[in-house]
Amino acid sequence: MSTRPPTVWVAPSILSADFAALGRDISAVERGGADLIHVDVMDGHFVPNITIGPPVVRAIKRIATRPLDVHLMIEEPDRYIDDFAAAGASMISVHVEVLPHLHRTIAHIKTLGVKAGAVINPSTPVSSLEEIARELDFVLVMSVNPGFGGQSFIPHSLDKVRRVRELLMATGSVAQIEIDGGIDASNVATVVAAGATILVAGHAIFGASDPEGATRSLRAAANGAAATGTRA
Ligand code: DX5
Ligand code: ZN
Repeated sequence: MSTRPPTVWVAPSILSADFAALGRDISAVERGGADLIHVDVMDGHFVPNITIGPPVVRAIKRIATRPLDVHLMIEEPDRYIDDFAAAGASMISVHVEVLPHLHRTIAHIKTLGVKAGAVINPSTPVSSLEEIARELDFVLVMSVNPGFGGQSFIPHSLDKVRRVRELLMATGSVAQIEIDGGIDASNVATVVAAGATILVAGHAIFGASDPEGATRSLRAAANGAAATGTRA
């Protein structure tokens, strides 16, 4: 009589990993049950920080056993999408704030055989996804202002996830909802109850003394929340 609980994926963000030991850190979270490896690409323009580009993604691809979820926090993402796909990205997300022709960009990502996601910043309305929702493989709701790891979860994001879920249902979209920023053991149950099925976590995993164990406990908490099936 019970329906199958939704699967929740945990996506450790390597932004908070030790960049001098990325292979070691990625292996640790994979042993802990990571479903995806979340890669934050920043250009120093769209966000204040600068991180990594396609060569590093290509290197990670050689050692990672889980799909790479590449989050582009950059201006003019169209110039780089092919390079990130060729480097081994399985999922690419782009910010709606920088793309006047979002439909074309999403369609292009999909033609490369890569899952396409649209990201909304905390101040970007859910309604900006209305006309693109059916084309998306996933929506990424930013629960902090992008640019840095280790920031606090913005409480309003919870309601935003609920409204994204409603929009997806209303438009007949099967897109998953990913949430990114300030996710830890204290809020994982509520974000899953609100409708998120991909949880990005950086500081909560790589800031812990045991990233493997931290991944395992986050995953257990997420799946426990999904199994209760309570919708907040
Ligand atoms: C923020 C990045 C996040 C970041 C999350 O701009 O998009 O992926 O790594 O880190 P935490 O979980 O530490 O907030
Ligand atoms: Zn991210």
